[in-house]
Parts: sequence; structure tokens; C-alpha cells
Amino acid sequence: MKIRKAVLPVAGMGTRFLPATKVVPKELLPIVDKPVIQYLVEEAVLSGIEEIIFVISKGKELIRDHFSHHPELEIFLESKGRYDLLEKVKPIHKTAQFTFVYQDEPLGDGHAVLMAEEAVGGEPFLVLFGDDIVKGDVPAAKQLIDQFKGESLLAVERIPKEKSVLYGMIRPGEHQGRLYEVLEMVEKPRPEESPSDLGIIGKYVCSPEIFNALKKATNSKGGEKRLIDGFIKLQEDQKIWAVEIEGERFDTGHPGGLAAAANAFL
Ligand code: UTP
Repeated sequence: MKIRKAVLPVAGMGTRFLPATKVVPKELLPIVDKPVIQYLVEEAVLSGIEEIIFVISKGKELIRDHFSHHPELEIFLESKGRYDLLEKVKPIHKTAQFTFVYQDEPLGDGHAVLMAEEAVGGEPFLVLFGDDIVKGDVPAAKQLIDQFKGESLLAVERIPKEKSVLYGMIRPGEHQGRLYEVLEMVEKPRPEESPSDLGIIGKYVCSPEIFNALKKATNSKGGEKRLIDGFIKLQEDQKIWAVEIEGERFDTGHPGGLAAAANAFL
């Protein structure tokens, strides 16, 4: 079955970038000259996505503005004959429909995905968190979608041992090339307790049953409903797979990661 829709939860508070994110959404911070969110939208479109569902919070409407027409700017650039720049600022969503839903309170990334349930409408879908950018030949989302055979998929990469405390780590079972069966997911284990060096990054293909799993799931420490909580619940009924993504990943959710991405893309 084709994956037509992508959910982009971008309603978080971006506290690690304060004061930069007091007004500007973290997802609009640039990697050189293009906002992080635009890399993700382009990744989705290049992976065959036809509808992008943004989960935003109040005050993050600037994200919608970024993807809308800016008539004065377009007229100005046209009058100056700057067709190169005109191409860059024209809305890029001609090939995909954009939908916006709200998360009223930042109750976790899983809670944000739940807000998109109606817009998704009972079909499998892609989820891209607003942080993880992969530089490589094949878009990371396409690498995931190409492996989809009806059961949910997580993107993983090899994580240095001492960093397992920052990731959801998987216990892999049988594998074929870069596709692994997921036997267990452990949230932020200490290095000596990590079941492998494969850590989950912010890209997923979810079967629609994830919504019920999220509703039934126990919340993470701190009371947030995380998407991983939903996957742990979903695994009671369905097989889950992981794809080891090819390419260089940047976690742009913290200042050091964004700076590293800027250096790489410059
Ligand atoms: P993060 O934890 O990286 O984002 O969530 P954050 O909460 O904005 O970051 P900090 O820790 O305060 O700096 C991963 C993704 O999930 C979204 C975020 O916007 C980001 O894209 N998210 C997170 C939501 O949409 N809602 C939430 O309640 C939490």
C-alpha cells in the first residue's frame, strides 16, 4: 500500500534554543539559507508524499507563512529580474497538499501525532520529527517507505555506546541487509543495559493502529506521551521493523547539531 501522507509534529517549545525560539519556531531556524522544516518537506515530497499534515501550536503559524505566497517579495524579485531567487521563494507545495492541525498543549510528540488522527484517516503514514536531517543520496524517508510491506517501520542508526541514554534503543532480531526485525525497544538505557547500538531517530512509518496504541500506552517519565510509548504498546499486537538509514544524520534540535549541519551543508 502506498504511503501518501506525512505527519510533521512541530508543536514543541524548542527550549534548547531559547532565546532564539521565543518568537521564531525552532523548525524555522536555518541550515545556511533554508529552514530546517523545508528540508523535511522536500524529503517528504521527494519520497512520494502527497499530503503533509503539520501539527503546530499557537504562535507557530509562521511555519504556514513560510510555505505560502509572498506577493510583494515575488513582484519585487520579478521587477529586478531575479528569477533565480524567485524560484527559491515560490511555494514548494504544488506537488503536495498541506494541512495544519493544532496541539493545544505540549503534551509530548506522541500526543502531537494523535492530533493528526482525523486528518490521516485510517491509512499508514509517514512521521518526520522536526529535528532529524539526513544528508545522503536517497532521502531517508524514501529508504523507509521502500521497505514498507504493511507493518510499521522505525529509522535507526548506529549510536556511540555512551550516547544510548539519549535514544530509544532496539533489540534487533533477524535481519536482511539494512532491515531488522525489532524484538524490543528500550527508552534511554544506560550503555551497559542497551540491547544494541541501534538507536531510533525521528522518522517512522506507522500503521494506522498506532493511534489506538498511543491512546492505551503508558506515558513516559515526566508524563509526556511519546511516540515510542505507542510503538511499545503496538508491538504487543504487530511486528515492528527498523531500517538502518544510509547518510549522515544531524540532530538539529540542539545548537551544536544545527551548527554541525550548517557546516556540512555550506
Ligand atoms: P523535541 O523534544 O525534539 O522538541 O520533539 P521540543 O520539545 O520542541 O524541544 P526542546 O526539548 O524543548 O528543545 C521532537 C519533535 O516533536 C515535536 C517537536 O516540535 C519536534 O519536532 N513535539 C514535541 C510536538 O509537536 N509536541 C510536543 O508536545 C513535543
